[in-house]
Amino acid sequence: MDIREINKFAAAVLVSGIVFFIAGLVGDLVVRVPPQKQLAIKIEPPPPPPPPSAGPAEQVPSIAARLAKADPAAGEAFAKKICGICHTFTDGGKAVVGPNLYNVVGGPHAHMAGFNYSDGMKSKAGNWTFEDLDAWLTKPSAYVPGTRMTFPGLPDAQMRANVIAFLRSLSAEPVPLPPVTQEAAPARTGELPALAPLLAKADPKAGEAFAKTICMICHTVNEGGRSIIGPNLYNVVGGPHAHMQGFLYSEAMKAKTGPWTYEDLNRWLYKPAEYAPGTKMAFPGIPDAQLRANVIAWLRSLSAEPQPLP
Ligand code: HEC
Ligand code: HEC
Repeated sequence: MDIREINKFAAAVLVSGIVFFIAGLVGDLVVRVPPQKQLAIKIEPPPPPPPPSAGPAEQVPSIAARLAKADPAAGEAFAKKICGICHTFTDGGKAVVGPNLYNVVGGPHAHMAGFNYSDGMKSKAGNWTFEDLDAWLTKPSAYVPGTRMTFPGLPDAQMRANVIAFLRSLSAEPVPLPPVTQEAAPARTGELPALAPLLAKADPKAGEAFAKTICMICHTVNEGGRSIIGPNLYNVVGGPHAHMQGFLYSEAMKAKTGPWTYEDLNRWLYKPAEYAPGTKMAFPGIPDAQLRANVIAWLRSLSAEPQPLP
């Protein structure tokens, strides 16, 4: 290759690069035009329904227990008024702002072929169980961060079950209702092994080692420490729920009454999202009972006057 040929070659590379670049831009523009419906309809999220008159969140019965006494007709009336702004419910119904909801219960996440779901929804594995739907409708943006469903959530737990019972009926073969087991109906504390004996033999050092790798990504633990993603944890044991002044807690956490008992911390660290549905703590929980007790024993030590052990 002499120098002229090299120049021609370079020019060709340059030109093809520019063409490619422009094609990319045009492609981007075409792809970025949102679908017509979204341009035409601008819907404000409907106001959340009035708060339930029921007691604090920890007394919410399991979804199985709530479904057992659910009223699908009340759910239908609610859904047609609110959810119907964005969804159709009939077999083969079209997408509006949201997908059609026929056969959604028991179907896969992002179940409507051809609907432009958010990446968050598309990446959810598994089928829509009753628990999933309960969590989703409690706070869509917590269940699928980045969801395109601009609906704030339905805080009334029984109305959520009514709506889910209605969704279940949208099928030629509704999936069976979940059994109300003996331990599902009363308090859920029974599921977990008794905490006192585990705390008695707990190793706060092992708890601290675990916390250093996980909890301290989001929490400071020294007296007067600042908030990071989560609140400072000094003096949290025996302190009130949402104990750090000025931290922006979730509504779920703010609604909790009473002090943080050992039992509360045990259930919280077992499954944060179950203890405080809608919590901002994006941590799945510690399934191991002794490790939980170790972490709680370490939390207890974050105080000038640690609470007495149970
Ligand atoms: C403002 C419009 C809007 C309202 C109101 C709304 N939704 Fe949605 N819904 C959407 C959109 C958009 C999606 C897709 C979410 C995504 O891709 O992240 C969706 C997704 C869903 C899904 C998942 C469907 C699937 O195929 O996986 C269910 C279930 C659902 N909505 C139920 C409800 C119920 C029940 C209500 C009423 C309590 C409701 N929605 C209210 C817009 C809405
Ligand atoms: C990804 C960040 C993150 C991780 C990891 C995390 N937390 Fe949290 N934590 C938070 C946030 C955010 C809140 C506030 C929750 C709310 O408002 O619902 C919180 C709240 C708490 C509270 C309640 C504090 C109060 O003032 O009432 C405790 C206790 C707690 N976390 C302990 C832990 C422990 C122990 C671990 C490790 C096993 C941990 N957290 C891991 C972010 C995190």
